Amino acid sequence: MSRKREGLRDFFAHYLPLYKGYKKEVTAAVVGMVLTSAATGAIAYMVKPLMDRIFIEKDVQMLYLVPVFIIAAFVAKGLGTYMQSYAMSYVGQDVVRKLRDNMLSHLMYLGVDFHQKIHSGELISRINNDIERIQVAISTQLATFLRELLTALVLLGVVIYQSPRLALYTLIIVPMVAFPVDYLSKRLKKLSHRSQEKNADLLQRLSENFANYEMIQSYNAQAYEVERFRAFNRSFFETNMKTVRVQLMITPILELVAAVAITIFIILGGREVLIEGTMTTGQFFSFLTALSLLIDPVRRLSNLYSRFQNAVAAHERISQMMGETPSVVSGTRPLDTIERLTFEKVGLRYGQKRALEGIDLEIVKGEVVGLVGDSGGGKSSLVNLVLRFYDPTEGKVLLNGVDARCFDLQALRSRMAVVTQRVYIVNDTVLANVAYGDKAPNRKKVEEALKKANLWDFVASLPEGVDTILQENGANLSGGQRQRIAIARALYKEPDILILDEATSALDNKSESAVMETIYRLKESLMVLIVAHRLTTVERADTILVFEEGRIVCRGKKEVLERDCEAFRQLYRKEKGA
Ligand SMILES: Nc1ncnc2c1ncn2[C@@H]1O[C@H](COP(=O)(O)OP(=O)(O)O)[C@@H](O)[C@H]1O
Ligand SMILES: [Mg+2]
Repeated sequence: MSRKREGLRDFFAHYLPLYKGYKKEVTAAVVGMVLTSAATGAIAYMVKPLMDRIFIEKDVQMLYLVPVFIIAAFVAKGLGTYMQSYAMSYVGQDVVRKLRDNMLSHLMYLGVDFHQKIHSGELISRINNDIERIQVAISTQLATFLRELLTALVLLGVVIYQSPRLALYTLIIVPMVAFPVDYLSKRLKKLSHRSQEKNADLLQRLSENFANYEMIQSYNAQAYEVERFRAFNRSFFETNMKTVRVQLMITPILELVAAVAITIFIILGGREVLIEGTMTTGQFFSFLTALSLLIDPVRRLSNLYSRFQNAVAAHERISQMMGETPSVVSGTRPLDTIERLTFEKVGLRYGQKRALEGIDLEIVKGEVVGLVGDSGGGKSSLVNLVLRFYDPTEGKVLLNGVDARCFDLQALRSRMAVVTQRVYIVNDTVLANVAYGDKAPNRKKVEEALKKANLWDFVASLPEGVDTILQENGANLSGGQRQRIAIARALYKEPDILILDEATSALDNKSESAVMETIYRLKESLMVLIVAHRLTTVERADTILVFEEGRIVCRGKKEVLERDCEAFRQLYRKEKGA
């Protein structure tokens, strides 16, 4: 309980100061709030003259005056509520807009390790749902809380003013109303939570089905998938119906309890008016009106606490994420060109998992290095270290003889280009895809890069050439074309270090050797690291590194390895056998 309260305090300590930037809106909200609660109080109060002056004293003038007041009060109430809600929504939406921007820019700069740890679906759901919860809390719910609290106080004032004695009884009776409603609300909250989970399951199933429909059809598994969906769907339905049952109970129960309470007051108040004569009829009805108007604010206030808790939980999740710092920190030294790449006794661990051990290596400009070995051997991990996606757990990676951690990270990455099996195609022109990240794309260079990647003929044959829009994920390209776009993208960057991590696996032999031809032609101005899934890809390399369980077990030219390295011969045999 106290932890919950603490969470609430942290939440407001974090968000309330933001309201300082919205003086105009906050003023409007306060004015609107006062207007609403004063008008509600006035409506309840008005019942007294309505009764006493019109019906008891039969004052005809009042008969025409009171309705005008009543309408005016309702207009004021509506206006006030609108003003307040609008102003608060504005603040909430605007704060959340900024939060969303901050969150994406924060997440975009966090390390690769963070994104590998946390599922992208979870990140999206946080950016989406958690922020939504915070927005509702700091706009609508806070507004409701303040407004209903003030309204309840004003109405309570009317209640006490009209009859302090009867008011005393409300202290007993109001909680009586609140209790069952509170119980049902809690139950409802649990159910709606469960329903959200089931809905997420359902969406997950749908997206999996649509993403894999080719597979599903080729295995004739439609019926199986439909059956699986049906089970999730039914369970979602059942939870929803449970929710409906509880939801529909709330209003009748509330009304019944309220009716009982009001009946009690009719008896108690009636005695005061008729028998004891301590109250006028008007006073009594005004009292009763104020009391029935009180039910709504009290009910809303009692709901709010648990709703705020949702926002607190959302805030805690988001803060935790915003508190994550990039594990790879940029240095300050500028970096114009990389001439030499050195690994000194480098080891890398992912948590407990050891991926590299005792790596010594030196590559200079003009060299092509091939990395081979069984899957899981540590080849991609070495690439991760070159790109500084991770820093070594032991030893050092040096660029031009200086620890890579000293250099400005952006400068470092701008001197390297990597192509992996997974290609990111942006839903934009070929030009924008090849000149990706370049604010001023150079058409001539794009054409050059496409030629080098052996893709120019294809692009030139497209209806709009390099200005043709590519579909998201490259749906209108073949796997090989996608990879060649990525290779062109890497070449466009004119890097000092070019890394191909199984980048040619989707290419046929002819395309692959064309790309390799280009790379060997450019090699004087480059360091090239090629992780190959086929030994033929790297047979011309200046050095081949053979990886086995995180270590380099042999290195040298192909001819040397064939003669001296058992691990290499084994790989060769495996490939021939396959
Ligand atoms: N992000 C990661 N978290 C934990 N373990 C990883 C991660 N990436 C790779 N590994 C593990 O490190 C080892 C080396 O992987 P990797 O460098 O990808 O090998 P390769 O590219 O040679 O197939 C493997 O055992 C792999 O399971
Ligand atoms: Mg790999």
